Amino acid sequence: MIVLGIESSCDETGVALFDSDHGLLAHAVHTQVAMHEAYGGVVPELASRDHIRRLIPLLERVLAESSTAKENINAIAYTVGPGLAGALLVGASFAESLALALNIPAVPVHHLEGHLLSPLLSKNPPKFPFIALLVSGGHTQLMRVSGVGTYELLGESLDDAAGEAFDKTAKLLGLGYPGGPALAALAEQGVPGKIKLPRPMLHSGDFDFSFSGLKTAVLTAVRQSAMAGSERADLAAEFQEAVTEVLTTKSLAAVRHCGLDTLVVAGGVGANHRLRERLNKAAAKAGAGVHYPELDLCTDNGAMIAFCGAQRLLAGLVKSSEGKLVGKFSVRPRWPLQELA
Ligand code: KG4
Ligand code: ZN
Repeated sequence: MIVLGIESSCDETGVALFDSDHGLLAHAVHTQVAMHEAYGGVVPELASRDHIRRLIPLLERVLAESSTAKENINAIAYTVGPGLAGALLVGASFAESLALALNIPAVPVHHLEGHLLSPLLSKNPPKFPFIALLVSGGHTQLMRVSGVGTYELLGESLDDAAGEAFDKTAKLLGLGYPGGPALAALAEQGVPGKIKLPRPMLHSGDFDFSFSGLKTAVLTAVRQSAMAGSERADLAAEFQEAVTEVLTTKSLAAVRHCGLDTLVVAGGVGANHRLRERLNKAAAKAGAGVHYPELDLCTDNGAMIAFCGAQRLLAGLVKSSEGKLVGKFSVRPRWPLQELA
C-alpha cells in the first residue's frame, strides 16, 4: 500500500510517499524559516499562502524521485490538526481534492500522533509498548504507548511547552527565530552553573512540567546584568541544562513507573544534542533503550504523516466515513491527543 502524506500545520510544507512493503519512498520538506525570520515568528497568513505555492511542486518532486505514478497511490494522509487553521485548511483541501480525483481514501491524521510514531521509521525502530516523550513547539507530554492508536497521557506541561520555552528564551537573549537551534548553538559556547537557574517541578512526584518560570528567571538575569557575550552564552547553557535535566529525569521516572524498558523521543526539541546526550546516559544507566526519529524527521515533515496514515489504515482505525469527507471536511486547530478516537 502506498500512502501520500501531506503536512501543512505550521511553517513547514512536507510531502512524502510511504510504502507499507518497502518503507519510505521519498520525502521533501520546504521550510518557511527565511520568510518568517524578518517578523521574529510565524505569520499565519503568510504561512498559508506559502503552503499553497509549495504543495504541487513538492508532490511532483516526490513522485519523480520515487518514480511513482499518481495512479499507484492508494490513500492520502494529511494533518488535520492541531496547528494553524488556515495552514491546515490548505493541506486538507489539497489532500481531499486529490483523493477525490484519484478515487482513493483521504485519511485525516493527528499531527502529534505523526511525531509519536516517527521513530518507527528509523533504522532501529522501537517495539511496543514504550514511553514517549513528545517535545515540540506546542506540546510537552509523556505518554505510555501500547500500540498504534493507544496512547495514555502520563503528564504534560502546565504552561509553556519545552520548544516554546526555548523559543521565548532565545528571544530574550536577542537570538532570532527559530529560537531552539539558535539557543542550543549559543549554549555550546557557555558554561552551565555559572549563573544558576531553577529546575522547575523536578521533584513534584508526577509527570507534569512547567517551563514558564524558567523563562522569567532568564528575564530577571538579563535585566540584572548588562550581559556581555560570554554571560549570554553561560545563561543559554544553564537554561539548556535546566530544561534537559527535568525532561530526562521525568522521562526515566515514567519508564520506571510503567515497568518498561524503552523510551521514544519525538518532536522538534528531540533534535537537541544535549537532551540526547543526557537521555542516552540516563537510559543506559537504567538499562533502557532510547529511540529517536532520524534527525531530518524530528521536525515537521510529511513522512511521519504518510507513515501514521498507513499504520491507521493497516490497523483498521480509519472509519469508512473519514475517506468521504469531501465538501464537509474541517480542520481541528485545537485537538488534544487524548480525544483521538
Ligand atoms: O515538532 P516541531 O518541528 O514543530 C511543532 O510541532 O511544534 O518543533 C519545533 C520546536 C521549536 O520550538 C524549535 O525551537 C524546537 O522545536 N527545536 C529545538 C531544536 N530544534 C528545534 N529546540 C532545542 N534544540 C534544538 N536543536
Ligand atoms: Zn510538529
